Amino acid sequence: MPLHHVIESQQFTVPLLMELFDRARRMERVVARGGTLDYQQKVMATLFYSPSTRTRFSFEAAMYRLGGRVMSTEQARMFSSEIEGEQLEDTIRIIGGYSDVIVLRHTEQGGAKRAAAVSPVPVINAGDGNGGQHPTQALLDLYTIFRERRLEGLTIAIIGELDHGRTARSLAYLLSKFERVKIYFVSPPELRMQPDILQHLEEHGVWYAVESDLDKVIRDADVVYQTRILPGRLANSEQLRRYTIDSRVLQVMKAGAMILHPLPRTVELDKTVDSDPRALYFRQATNGLFVRMALLTMVWDEKE
Ligand code: CP
Repeated sequence: MPLHHVIESQQFTVPLLMELFDRARRMERVVARGGTLDYQQKVMATLFYSPSTRTRFSFEAAMYRLGGRVMSTEQARMFSSEIEGEQLEDTIRIIGGYSDVIVLRHTEQGGAKRAAAVSPVPVINAGDGNGGQHPTQALLDLYTIFRERRLEGLTIAIIGELDHGRTARSLAYLLSKFERVKIYFVSPPELRMQPDILQHLEEHGVWYAVESDLDKVIRDADVVYQTRILPGRLANSEQLRRYTIDSRVLQVMKAGAMILHPLPRTVELDKTVDSDPRALYFRQATNGLFVRMALLTMVWDEKE
């Protein structure tokens, strides 16, 4: 099934997701035996205009495990010709001439789409702007859930700074493809999920509720998807505490629930949660390696 640029979650159909997840399972086995040399002719460029730990390192690890090579700038704003005024489009045309794929994190919403419009090689969106998308994060989130249970009939609470939450936005688009999914968007009223996502869910007949009280929904959730609320977005720390997952929340969650977080975290996910068997966020981050290996092979195998 063809996959060229990876820009937004809406691109993924259920069959394409299943193919990706099947490949990711195979990549788990490839990594267990130390990797492969199947893609040793390939060069990946990672071009990050804002900081990243998980996305950049997991893409780079993915490329090494596939046998390929990596060119990287983790601070593209400073260490590329952008500092001398070069436009993104020119940078992409140039780097596309040196590589077989560009993994781009850009500060502007729509940055990845601009890059894809001129790139001679596949562009993978590694997060664009506040309120843009982070499709590869959502893919690994969904894979983590899929490894544990069926996606149909899932009830999920997506919590945090949802107006700017690019991972939450990308995940909502993916979830909308599965039957009988229920989504609670839980946030302080001023940080609510944007209307475009809610409209998309309505158009696709997906049940959702916008909620500001975590206690009202937490008992019902099969997946608690926590995200960060950046310092300064709320007036006081008391307000932030109402959205924190901690030992009190653990007591009322379903016994078989999963706690996910794209990370990094601050205070919204208490460290005492780490030892709870429902805490899957470190496994989720590891799954990023397998899903990104799978994605790279899919963009390169597109013509097969
Ligand atoms: N989840 C995520 O995108 O993390 P990084 O910002 O560290 O890449």
